[in-house]
Amino acid sequence: MTIRAIEWDHTAGRDRAGAVRLLDQTLLPLRTEFRTVERTDDLVTAIRELAVRGAPALGVAGALGVVVAMDEAAREGWDEQALQAAVDRVRHARPTAVNLAWGVDEVRPLMAAGREAVLEAALRLAQEDESANRQLSRLAADWLLERIDRPRLRVLTHCNAGILATSGWGTALGVVRELHARDRVELVYADETRPLFQGARLTAYELAKEGIPHVVQTDSAAASTILRGLVDLAVVGADRIAANGDTANKIGTLGVALACRDASIPFMVAAPWSTVDLSMSDGSTIEIEERDGDEVTSWAGIRVVPEGTQGFNPAFDVTPARLVDAVSTERGVAEPRSGRDLEMLARATDGV
Ligand code: MRU
Repeated sequence: MTIRAIEWDHTAGRDRAGAVRLLDQTLLPLRTEFRTVERTDDLVTAIRELAVRGAPALGVAGALGVVVAMDEAAREGWDEQALQAAVDRVRHARPTAVNLAWGVDEVRPLMAAGREAVLEAALRLAQEDESANRQLSRLAADWLLERIDRPRLRVLTHCNAGILATSGWGTALGVVRELHARDRVELVYADETRPLFQGARLTAYELAKEGIPHVVQTDSAAASTILRGLVDLAVVGADRIAANGDTANKIGTLGVALACRDASIPFMVAAPWSTVDLSMSDGSTIEIEERDGDEVTSWAGIRVVPEGTQGFNPAFDVTPARLVDAVSTERGVAEPRSGRDLEMLARATDGV
C-alpha cells in the first residue's frame, strides 16, 4: 500500500509554495479524498475531526503545522505573537498523543532559522518515523516468534496503528506486516473500535489492500475470542507511554490487555520512541481526551438512544504496565511487566 496519510505537497497552495496534503480518513473506506491544508485553523479542524489521526501521523502534522503557520503568517502579515499562538493551537489540538506536541517542539526552535529549515526538519522527522516503524516491527516479530511456538500466528489488534496512523509502514500493523512478510500470519482479528470504527474502516482497509487474512469483530467480542483460545497475541499502538510502561491507547485497549493476562498470552505495544514520554513516571497524569457524546449516541447520523440520554465518550484508556508484556520500539523491546521498563531501555541505549 503506497498511500500516505499526510505529506507535504511542494506545489500545492495558493501561490504554489506548498501545503499539507492529507488523506481524509473520515471518509474511508467508501471514498478516497484528500484535503489540501494551508491554514492553521483548517489543520486544527482536520486533527479534531480525525481526518488525520494516529499518534505518529499527528507528530508529522504537528511539525508540518509549524510550516503552515509560518506561511500563513507571511501571507496575512501576522506579528510574532499571532504566529506563536497559531503554533500553540496546533500543539494543543488533541491532548493524549504526545507525538503532536513532540512534533511541534522538535521543529519550533528552528523557526528563527527560517521556513526552509523548519520544512526540512519536518520532512526528516516523517522519514525517520517510517524507518523507526520498520525497525520496531522487525524487533517485535523476532520477540514474538521466539516465544510463540506455532507455524502461523492468530493476532488481535485494536483501533488502527497502520500506514494510515503513521508516515509509513505502521506500528502494530507494521508488526503484522512484518509477520506476514515472514509467512507467519494465520488470521488477524481487528476490533471494530467504537465509536468511530477505526478498526472496521481503516485497519480492515489496510489488511484487505495488503492481502492479509482478517476478520472484523465487535469490541465486545474481544475478551471472549481471547479466552476461547482463538488468539496467540494482541498487538496495539500507543498514544503515550510513561517511563514505567503504562500505556495510553484507544479506549478498549485495557479490556484486551486484561483478557490477554487472564489467558497468559502476550500483550504487546508497538510504538516509535517519539511516543515514549519519560517526563511521566507513570500513566496517572496522562490527559485522556473526552470527545463529544454524540459520537456514542448516534450511528451514521441517526440517534440510537432515547431523547434526553447523554453520551460518555473517553477516547483513550491507560493500560497499566503490569499488563504490558512488551513495548517494541526502534531502540529495543522493553518488558514492563517483568520490570524492564522504558526508563531502563532509555538508559541502556542512550548514545547508541
Ligand atoms: O483517535 P485516534 O484514531 O487518533 O486513535 C489512534 C490510536 O489510538 C492508535 O492506536 C495510536 O495513536 C497509535 S497509531 C500508530
